[in-house]
Amino acid sequence: MKTDLFCISEKIVVITGGAGVLGGKMATMLLENQAKVVILDLNQEAIDRKLKELHEISENAVGYPCDVTSQAKLEEVRQQILDKWGRIDILINAAGGNMPGATVAPDQTVFDVSIEALQKVLDLNLIGSVLPTLVLGKVMADQKSGSVINISSMAATHSITRVLGYSLAKAGIDIFTKWMAAEMSLKFGDGIRVNAIAPGFFIGEQNRRLLTNEDGSLTDRGNTIIQNTPMQRFGDADELNGAILYLSSEASKFVTGTIIPIDGGFNSFSGV
Ligand SMILES: NC(=O)c1ccc[n+]([C@@H]2O[C@H](COP(=O)([O-])OP(=O)(O)OC[C@H]3O[C@@H](n4cnc5c(N)ncnc54)[C@H](O)[C@@H]3O)[C@@H](O)[C@H]2O)c1
Repeated sequence: MKTDLFCISEKIVVITGGAGVLGGKMATMLLENQAKVVILDLNQEAIDRKLKELHEISENAVGYPCDVTSQAKLEEVRQQILDKWGRIDILINAAGGNMPGATVAPDQTVFDVSIEALQKVLDLNLIGSVLPTLVLGKVMADQKSGSVINISSMAATHSITRVLGYSLAKAGIDIFTKWMAAEMSLKFGDGIRVNAIAPGFFIGEQNRRLLTNEDGSLTDRGNTIIQNTPMQRFGDADELNGAILYLSSEASKFVTGTIIPIDGGFNSFSGV
């Protein structure tokens, strides 16, 4: 077996939402493995904060402000990346998140959900992965090589109460992953792969208040999740990195259209 199966040295990786919790951890791990990293996020200050941290590892990291729902901005950034590094090898679509209006609050029913908010969540979480894949994935099609990694969720395949808009978007991510995997291989060859990871429950800024109380104890929802997770704990953001390295590297050369759960067993457990 090749010993450098997981080598990603010199690969050009673009991470949307790269200043966020999960995208940020992935950026650090990829840079530590000698990749060249581009982080895209909304806010220049958050990008600068993350870049400062990344530059302590290597200078091979840049960041650009970019709204993933703007085709014009993505096209501008694509040119900046090509001017700097000439190619795009890996795209990780990690920008995303929930919005209060698109969820069903405890004292509401589905009939209270705002369609406007629902559309915003779909725009960010579904179109915000479709557009970067089309704009930046075009470079991969021209190169005839590349790996796209989408971020799905347990909410794509399980009806998880309250988060309607987010679930619709993540279910869309699953079929988009499979659809693009087929399209890229059939039309542009076996060098381009499209896969997803489906994280279970990780405490991040967006869900901290849903899962934990101010004193650090679990909310009822947090408790229910833990009861349905055989490993009996939340994930640590670093625990996504193994699958990200696998999907980024030649180790997964014949893998496309898959969605890998990283969830402490939540996906496979009946709860009984
Ligand atoms: N944290 C979890 O438990 C969990 C579980 C399953 C899936 N996910 C998914 O993982 C991904 C990352 O989540 P996270 O927990 O790191 O969230 P996060 O909020 O820490 O990171 C998301 C990042 O995306 C950026 N962003 C938001 N809108 C954007 C836009 N329009 N254009 C560009 N960037 C934008 C935010 O500024 C933020 O930095 C999301 O898709 C999320 O749905 C998270």
